[in-house]
Amino acid sequence: MAQKNQTLGEFIIENQSEFKYSSGELSRLINSIRLAAKVVNHEVNKAGLVDILGAAGETNVQGESQQKLDVYANEAFIKTLTNREIVCGIASEEEDHFITIKGRNQNHDNKYVVLIDPLDGSSNIDVNVSVGTIFSVYRRITPSGTPVTLEDFLQPGRNQVAAGYIIYGTSTMIVYTTGHGVNGFTLNPALGTYYHSHPNMKFPQDGTIYSVNEGNYVHFPQGVKDYIKFCQEEEGDRPYTSRYIGSLVSDFHRNMIKGGIYIYPNTAKNPDGKLRLLYECNPMAMIAEQAGGMASDGFRRILDIEPTELHQRVPFICGSSNMVRKAEKFMQNA
Ligand code: AHG
Ligand code: MN
Ligand code: MN
Repeated sequence: MAQKNQTLGEFIIENQSEFKYSSGELSRLINSIRLAAKVVNHEVNKAGLVDILGAAGETNVQGESQQKLDVYANEAFIKTLTNREIVCGIASEEEDHFITIKGRNQNHDNKYVVLIDPLDGSSNIDVNVSVGTIFSVYRRITPSGTPVTLEDFLQPGRNQVAAGYIIYGTSTMIVYTTGHGVNGFTLNPALGTYYHSHPNMKFPQDGTIYSVNEGNYVHFPQGVKDYIKFCQEEEGDRPYTSRYIGSLVSDFHRNMIKGGIYIYPNTAKNPDGKLRLLYECNPMAMIAEQAGGMASDGFRRILDIEPTELHQRVPFICGSSNMVRKAEKFMQNA
């Protein structure tokens, strides 16, 4: 039972022992993400003042050069995690290669690697619509004391020890899991404190929302077309409601609370889909499963896919378990 008015800091300390390799390192890592999220949140909230402060690429009235928000968010997360010397490597959607990080005393003793999508839904920034950050944490598989290698990052999603997202919406929230359910924390901006507002989040087993970019319909595989037609049929609780923000974090967050399914299929233009396995699909899949939902590419469990490259893409179907099962059936029977 969640304690009333419990803060994220208190929650982390209280639940540290639940984590099997509990040495405090993972807690410190989540703490750093919490801090970076506040910095990015501050910047996201200023985005609407672009006419006053100057657009990205320009120099503002204070003589500071303005950065694009996705570049800013990327640097903020990397800088925070590097400065605190708690991870041995970072891979980011915004970087071509992974980054090796030394720990205290200039050694390579840290245990965890982090993968991030620093700003998800970036096309929404200019129009004041919710964006997010997604993160994923693994224990390294190469021996401690040596620099990380690509294989530390190319692990199947089921090896994740933590995953989460930050949603910069009407309020800012951190939602994350360390494999013991999903918890959500809402930022009180006046105090700069996150409160445990959403304990033990669960996907309803069924839902009535489907989220897909239907503009690409003609390019979808037959199974997805058939499932969309099913969603639109008049029968029982159907037709379902269509809701698509174009920011995975926001679409997922709504669907987890209300019940629904998110689909980004492969298309003629994107034969492997658009979303990134390591930075977007795996972390969202872990959260979905921890919340009683499912994530699939139509044929396989997302968390069982063996990655072969950092920026790999994959078709993504994620949400309420009965809806995902139904969509898989359509895919497999097409
Ligand atoms: P990003 O901003 O990190 O590049 O991710 C955008 C992703 C995802 O958030 C969203 O659901 C999807 O792209 C939207 O794509 P379409 O505009 O093709 O629908
Ligand atoms: Mn993204
Ligand atoms: Mn992004």
